This record gives sequence, structure tokens and C-alpha cells, in this order.
Amino acid sequence: MSANILDGKALAATVTDEVRAAVAARVARGRPAPGLAVVLVGENAASQVYVRNKRKTTEGVGMRSFAHDFPADVPEAELLALIDRLNADPTVSGILVQLPLPAHIDPERVTERIDPRKDVDGFHPYNVGRLVLKRPTLRPCTPYGCMKLLEATGEPLAGKHAVVIGQSNIVGRPMALELLMARCTVTVCHSATRDLPGIVRQGDVVVAGVGKAKFVPGDWVKQGAIVIDVGINRMPDGKLCGDVDFDGAKERASWITPVPGGVGPMTIAMLLSNTLRAAELQDAGGSPGPLP
Ligand code: GUN
Repeated sequence: MSANILDGKALAATVTDEVRAAVAARVARGRPAPGLAVVLVGENAASQVYVRNKRKTTEGVGMRSFAHDFPADVPEAELLALIDRLNADPTVSGILVQLPLPAHIDPERVTERIDPRKDVDGFHPYNVGRLVLKRPTLRPCTPYGCMKLLEATGEPLAGKHAVVIGQSNIVGRPMALELLMARCTVTVCHSATRDLPGIVRQGDVVVAGVGKAKFVPGDWVKQGAIVIDVGINRMPDGKLCGDVDFDGAKERASWITPVPGGVGPMTIAMLLSNTLRAAELQDAGGSPGPLP
């Protein structure tokens, strides 16, 4: 059996079309187009590509894109001062600081400086806490996109054993919270996990977010499992590949995301969806709950 392909590019185009229509309707009502500020520090090649795509897609849905690029040695205080200005700027609905940051900048301090109402990455402790409490507001884009892909299979998630490989703040942890909210039984694996292959083989759903090319061989995948591959790794020949050995896994999985064209486009689509949501929250005077 060869798996059905979960086409993230097509689903992202659908989400993006919906956001574009909602932005047009908002502007037709006399509201300003939402604005997204994307901040890039340094010259990390992968970050430059991601940021370029984010800015281009933002403009493509009729939103305003504000670019703020800094050299790698920018003082942390300068970055924090920019965030303060963006927080206070009513034309800016969402703020994203691309990670990773250079070693002299504390990513937690930067994340926590962003107004939670403008935190379109969903990384601020306020938004993470909302997700923990099953009352999400702005949800981390990659796990949110993975949930949309899982929904697109049409398979019920309640009761499934979901195995998440990786415990990062950007992918693994919020992914586990999303899957728990969808009533999966969730196992989170990391570098100290014993018998990783044995645990992954129990997964009805497997989400791989480790950042290592073909880390999950096909024979770790249970027959009929749904495989979501968050990895984007560049091979020596220049081609991209995921954290899962796609060719091996597709012979056992019922559904699988390709790399490229799976999770990646969904991350950007959910970023735009969050930016629209952030603009609406700000129209309504803030988040549903009290903010610090
Ligand atoms: N670096 C890798 N993924 C992400 C993301 O989703 N948001 C930000 N800000 N940085 C990242």
C-alpha cells in the first residue's frame, strides 16, 4: 500500500485564499488592512529564505508587510526598543522575530517583550498558557498547520495514540498540547527517550520535528499511521528532505506529508491567519482574557 499524500501546498493555498477574502472584506468595511512586522537579525541563510517567503505571502493576501533587518551584532537593547515601537504602532497587527537569534540576544526576553495581542507566532508565555488551558488565542503556526493537515485526512483523532518526536518550544511542545486538545493520547519523545523505535511503532499519528534528515526510517512507522514531517533539511546534493525517510514510510503510512510541499507552506498560511485574528482581537479591544 502506498500512502495518500497530504498536500500542504494545496491546503495552504485554500487557507491563504480565505485570508485574502477576509482581508478584502475588512478593507471594504473601512477597516485598515492588517500589518505584519517581520524582524530578521543576521544572515542565517535558511532564515533569510523563510522571511522572504513570509513577507511575499503577506503582501499577496493584501496585508501590509513591514521589514526590519538588522546585522548580527545589533545590541539586544536596540531590538527591544524596536519591539516597543511596534507594540505601540496601530498599523502593526502582528510582530514576528525570526529565530534563531545570535547568541548575545536572549530569545525569551525578546519573545516576552512582544504584546501578546500581536504575538502571531504564539510563543509568548500568555499564548502558550492559553493553549495549555485549552483556550487558545494565537496558536504557534507550525503545530496549528499540522492540525489543519490532520483535519484534512478526515480521520477522527480522538483516542488515537500520537507520538511526537522532538520537544522544542516551536514544534514539539505546542504540538503535543494541540494533539491533547484533539483528545489524542500523546507521547513526547526526545534525546533521552528509551526505545524510540518501539514507541514510534505504537503511533497512530507520528509527528517528527527533530531537524535531522531521514531520522525516522520507514520500518518505525506502524501500518496505517498518519505521518506528519515537520523537518526541512538540506542534503549535500542541495535537495530538501524531511525528518522521515519518505520512500520507506509511504509504503506503511495511510497518509504522509511530503517535504517540500507539506508542513512548510502551512506554517506561513497559519501565520497569515493569526495576523488576521490578531487584527480582529485588537479591533475588539484585546484578547478574550485579561492580559498582564
Ligand atoms: N524559526 C523556525 N521556525 C520559526 C517560526 O515558526 N517562527 C519564528 N519566529 N522563527 C522560527
